[in-house]
Amino acid sequence: AKGAIKDKRARPLRDLRISVTDRCNFRCTYCMPKEVFDKDHAYLAHDELLSFEEITRLATIFTSLGVEKIRLTGGEPLLRKNLEILVQMLADIRTPAGKPLDLTLTTNGSILRKKAAALKAAGLNRITVSLDGLQDDIFKQMNDVDFPVTDVLDGISAAQEVGFSNLKVNMVVKKGTNDQEIVAMAKHFKGSGITLRFIEFMDVGSSNGWNMTEVLPSKEVLAKIHAVFPLEAIEASYPGEVAQRWRYVDGSGEVGVISSVTQTFCHECTRARISTDGQLYLCLFANTGFDFKTLLRSGKTDLEITNAIMGVWSNRDDHYSEIRGANTLESSSSRKVEMSYIGG
Ligand code: GTP
Ligand code: 5AD
Ligand code: SF4
Ligand code: SF4
Repeated sequence: AKGAIKDKRARPLRDLRISVTDRCNFRCTYCMPKEVFDKDHAYLAHDELLSFEEITRLATIFTSLGVEKIRLTGGEPLLRKNLEILVQMLADIRTPAGKPLDLTLTTNGSILRKKAAALKAAGLNRITVSLDGLQDDIFKQMNDVDFPVTDVLDGISAAQEVGFSNLKVNMVVKKGTNDQEIVAMAKHFKGSGITLRFIEFMDVGSSNGWNMTEVLPSKEVLAKIHAVFPLEAIEASYPGEVAQRWRYVDGSGEVGVISSVTQTFCHECTRARISTDGQLYLCLFANTGFDFKTLLRSGKTDLEITNAIMGVWSNRDDHYSEIRGANTLESSSSRKVEMSYIGG
């Protein structure tokens, strides 16, 4: 039946990550390095982007096939004009069981102060803010555009003030660059009700110069925190959760680790991604997508699009993290798609 489609590895389709812009005001070295994303970089033209109507139509069809969670990403999603209008459109979608979607956003927080109230009013459920350090010089080394940490912290406060009670903060850990910030970050967010998650630096895209020597395994992240603030493992909050959860023994909250390099989670990966220009990607590390923009713009019916998605998903066999080599720059011959385009 509908709602129960499985891929070749028996994985259902549950989450949809939608990139709403390929632009960002940061140049995080692990994502949009300056040398590649310079002033000559060709971003998508406006008419290549899916419109809000097209996104909503696709999201509605995906929901009929089992999707329960939609995450808006980018680039920096808050740079997309009137994003709150899209949020409002998506908030009206219902699952076959009549429930609203879990509607979430991953942002760098830089203009969150300005947008938080409108996003809340539009029906956004959750926000995850990326923040890679608390010391200004280290944070600036990560964002590479001299962006001050206080503005991101202020964006987080703004989100709390308008009533987002389930905030998460993502910290990408690059060994030798920001690993000295791990315990300070843990200390800062402990007891705040905000869940801090540490992400292993991944070999996404083809331009971030990834190399295993800059990956700090999550096990070491946890050991550093545990030595100061004892932790114990807790259950995942939903099947296929990307982060492993740990709670502070003293009851002051939890942290998570996302270990896509040292402990892969492809076996339960239920995520599909839609790029800014409407290509459907089945894996963060895929090098080709399926062109749904053309389908949307060539008069196809909802049924035809539904069937196309089912066909693509039922043939899905992706499990990149399980098979990556120690140095993908050497071992992969094909160019992978950039994360800012496919949307984290
Ligand atoms: P929650 O709903 O809060 O659990 O969100 P999430 O953890 O799925 O999403 P978020 O955008 O916060 O992603 C956290 C990190 O995990 C990012 O660095 C993502 O790129 C990474 N990530 C998410 N999904 C996948 C995936 O399917 N594969 C890999 N390798 N990494 C992923
Ligand atoms: N490795 C790990 N995480 C990354 N992100 C972006 N690029 C990488 C990478 N190379 C993170 C962002 C954001 C999330 C969506 O993905 O910091 O928190
Ligand atoms: Fe922008 Fe996020 Fe990529 Fe940093 S990680 S460059 S904030 S899209
Ligand atoms: Fe899913 Fe691909 Fe990530 Fe594996 S590497 S968890 S298949 S997106």
